[in-house]
Amino acid sequence: MYYQAGKEIKRIIDMLKIENIEDSDIIDGTDHGELVSKIVMMLADKILKPDDRTREVLNNAAVLHDVGKLKISKNIYGRGKTLQVEEARLMRTHAKLGAEMLATCEYPDDVVEAVLHHHESYDGSGYPSNLIGENIPYVSRVIKVCDAFAALVSDRPYRRAYNMAAAKKMMIDDNKDYDLRILTYFLDLTNEPEFSEIMDLVEELNRKHGYYR
Ligand SMILES: [Fe+2]
Repeated sequence: MYYQAGKEIKRIIDMLKIENIEDSDIIDGTDHGELVSKIVMMLADKILKPDDRTREVLNNAAVLHDVGKLKISKNIYGRGKTLQVEEARLMRTHAKLGAEMLATCEYPDDVVEAVLHHHESYDGSGYPSNLIGENIPYVSRVIKVCDAFAALVSDRPYRRAYNMAAAKKMMIDDNKDYDLRILTYFLDLTNEPEFSEIMDLVEELNRKHGYYR
C-alpha cells in the first residue's frame, strides 16, 4: 500500500544524503503523503477530471508535499529544546525546503511549484509567498483542501482526530483559506459511497500510529 510514497521518499532521502531522520518520521511522512494523494486522486478522477499532465502533477505533488519536514524533523514535533514560537517558524520553512529538495532531485518545475505553494491561503494569508486566489497554482489549491482534511481526521500526538463531520465544519468555517469551488467539490466527494475507502484508510492509519487506540 505504501508502494509509491515510500519508494519515492526513500529515493529522495538517499539522493540528498539526509541523515538523522527517525524511522517514525519517515513513516508518518509517507503515510500522510499516501493519504493525501489518495484523496486528491479520487477528487481528480471523479470530479475535477484534469488533463493527463495535471493529473500526474497532482499525484506527485500530493505524495511529496511535506517532504521538506524530513529535513527539520529533529527540531519540530515538540522535541529537543526548540522553543514553541521558534518551532512554528521553523515548521513554516518546510514548503520552501521541500521545493528546494525536489528541484535538486530534478523534479519538473510544475511539481516543485505545487509543493512550494501548498500552504498558500486563497485570501493571501498563507505562506511562503502570500499568493492570492488564482495566482496560487491550481495543484496547490487542490492539495490545500485535501491536506487540511487529512490532517484534521488524523490522530496527532497532541490531539485526537476530529470526526468527518467536525472536520468538514471546521473547513467550512475557515473557507477563506480555500478555493471555494474546490472546497465545494471536495465536500460533494465526501458524500459519495467511494469516500468510505478514504475513511477506512484514515481509520487504519490512526490505529497503526496508535496514539490513542
Ligand atoms: Fe505541509
